[in-house]
Amino acid sequence: MERREFVGSFAALAAGVVLAPRVARAAGSARASVAPLPLMTIYKSPSCGCCKEWVKHVQAAGFKTKVVDMDDLTQVKTDAGVPEDLQSCHTALIGTYVIEGHVPAELVQKLLTDKTKLTGLAVGGMVVGSPGMEQGSMKQPYNVMAFTKGGKSTVYARR
Ligand code: CU
Ligand code: CU
Repeated sequence: MERREFVGSFAALAAGVVLAPRVARAAGSARASVAPLPLMTIYKSPSCGCCKEWVKHVQAAGFKTKVVDMDDLTQVKTDAGVPEDLQSCHTALIGTYVIEGHVPAELVQKLLTDKTKLTGLAVGGMVVGSPGMEQGSMKQPYNVMAFTKGGKSTVYARR
């Protein structure tokens, strides 16, 4: 009995020794895949307040941002391939993706994790209750659309 206990505790100890580095390595790699988010460059009008609020929203979610103020964003949106019917106030570029309008930060994270072949995500117009467009408890339901350059846009998420 005594011997079995000894063997049992030795096995547990050995398992602990073997497992510990593996757990540490797993935690390290999980952190590595989440932490280094690419820099997000946000083009926005200097006078638009909701754009500023959206910048705060993505910063709070951990995104590093570079904000570029410009009066006319038409060229940026055209170059980025944002469909006309999905245009909003600000346009952000992150990695290979385009984020148009008040897209929730968690969906940008999902997009980066999934590594899909989309051009980007968009919330067209100015939806009350979307990130950066909060007005008390008012919430308009909206679709977050996925788009590809010159392609058809599809519903990516409903909020
Ligand atoms: Cu806006
Ligand atoms: Cu905006």
